[in-house]
Amino acid sequence: MQKNILIIGACGQIGTELTYTLRAIHGNDKIIASDIREGNSELVQSGPFELLDATDLNAVEELVAYHEIDEVYLMAAMLSATAEKFPMRAWNLNMNSLFNILNLAKEKKISKIFWPSSIAVFGPKTPQQLTPQNTIMQPTTVYGISKLSGEGWCEYYFNKFGVDVRSLRYPGLISWKTQPGGGTTDYAVEIYHKAINEGHYTCFLESNTELPMMFMDDAIRATLELMNADSKKVKQRTSYNLSGMSFTPAEIAKSIQAKIADFKISYKPDFRQEIADSWPSSIDDTSAQKDWGWKSKFDLAKTTEIMLQKIGS
Ligand code: SER
Repeated sequence: MQKNILIIGACGQIGTELTYTLRAIHGNDKIIASDIREGNSELVQSGPFELLDATDLNAVEELVAYHEIDEVYLMAAMLSATAEKFPMRAWNLNMNSLFNILNLAKEKKISKIFWPSSIAVFGPKTPQQLTPQNTIMQPTTVYGISKLSGEGWCEYYFNKFGVDVRSLRYPGLISWKTQPGGGTTDYAVEIYHKAINEGHYTCFLESNTELPMMFMDDAIRATLELMNADSKKVKQRTSYNLSGMSFTPAEIAKSIQAKIADFKISYKPDFRQEIADSWPSSIDDTSAQKDWGWKSKFDLAKTTEIMLQKIGS
């Protein structure tokens, strides 16, 4: 019998869409959504939902036993901009939640884990264009340090204890169902909402700051393709580089102006500029392509078309 899947951080930007997609595939009852607080009511009502503090080992362990969980998607995390304001809280959440799940897998209480990493694992000394899978990694943000450490622990638990943990270094994710919170790439979602609602956006990054980004449908598909891949094909047990598109604030503004001619953008960079400057502009994801057949589908024009249509309707 197929056991159940637990999503931790199910009310967040990625967790929401992952929950809907997994419920559509496996049936609502098989997918247990959990979060520290209740998010949108559609998600909470469409299947089992539990309030859960991911750092509380006993609570996580009880929930896993009660719901006969076999597989965990650990999506709870404090993102880059917020983590700079609360370094210790970010470290505690991002690391302890991971250790809780890795240790349950080590004890054979669950059999498979997905844990997201990020382009934030790279730093200012990393080659910025087409950043390779294996390269200099000296992150200068609290969030990046926690994700790079997490990658190391994932690989360690795989090598030492055979824990089947899989990971992707997500770029900035663009979606319309749930807004992101506390990230540096959040501007690329905010801009669409402002374009529709106010016709103007003041961007917290400079016009020419190029960052790797991805439309959410691609990100969810990549996640499920990696999780469904034969274990032998998953060769990177730290985390996989993953590429969708790259653009600057000026370029996304131009793509919006192609649909809303009088849309205006202005620039007022804040502390997030330094974070963005430390990250790659584009990503080389050849390893993901070769190992489990990854190929992205959405470019900027398509993303803009869908975002404006969905937010505007
Ligand atoms: N989108 C994230 C952030 O901006 C990066 O993983 O923090």
